[in-house]
Amino acid sequence: MQFKSLLLLAASNLIPSATAAKITTQSDADTLPDTITDGIEISSTYTGDLILPTVTTVVGNITYSGPDLINFSAPVLSVVVGTFNFTGDFKSLSTPAITQITEALIVATSDSSFDCAPFQTLQRDGVVSGEFTCTV
Ligand SMILES: *[C@@H]1O[C@H](CO)[C@@H](O)[C@H](O)[C@H]1NC(C)=O
Ligand SMILES: *[C@@H]1O[C@H](CO)[C@@H](O)[C@H](O)[C@H]1NC(C)=O
Ligand SMILES: *[C@@H]1O[C@H](CO)[C@@H](O)[C@H](O)[C@H]1NC(C)=O
Repeated sequence: MQFKSLLLLAASNLIPSATAAKITTQSDADTLPDTITDGIEISSTYTGDLILPTVTTVVGNITYSGPDLINFSAPVLSVVVGTFNFTGDFKSLSTPAITQITEALIVATSDSSFDCAPFQTLQRDGVVSGEFTCTV
C-alpha cells in the first residue's frame, strides 16, 4: 500500500497541469475508470444522489462545492493522493473503503442530520495525513 502510494504521488507530481475529471451527471460517474490520475471535480450544479461505482484510486483532489448534492457514495474508493473536500448541503457521504487520504479531509455541510463520526474515526485511525475538518 505504501509503495503504491509513493508511485502515485510521483505520478501526480509529473502532471501538475492536468485537468480533473468532471462529473455533471451520474452517467459521467458510471464511465470513470478505477484509477483517476488528475483528480475529480463534481459539478457545483450536481443535483440529487451520486454514486462512484468504479473508482478505487484518485490521484489529485476530489472536490465538490454546491447546494444540491444530497447523498454521495464511493463504495470502493480506497486511496486519495490529494485532498478530499466536500462543501455543501448534503445529507450523507459514504466512503466505507477509504484507507488513505494523503492531504486534507474537509467535510462541511449545512444539513444538521449529517454524521461526522465516521470521518472522525478516519482521522483517529491515521487515514488522513493533512488537515481534518468536519463541520455541520
Ligand atoms: C438520501 O438518503 C436519505 C437517507 O438514506 C434518503 O431518505 C433519501 O431518499 C436519499 N436521496 C435523496 C435525493 O434525498
Ligand atoms: C488540491 O487541493 C490543495 C488544497 O487542499 C491545493 O493546494 C492544491 O493545489 C490542489 N491540487 C490541484 C491539482 O488542484
Ligand atoms: C475546500 O473547498 C472550499 C469550497 O470550495 C474552499 O473554500 C476551501 O478553501 C477548500 N479547502 C481546502 C483545504 O482545499
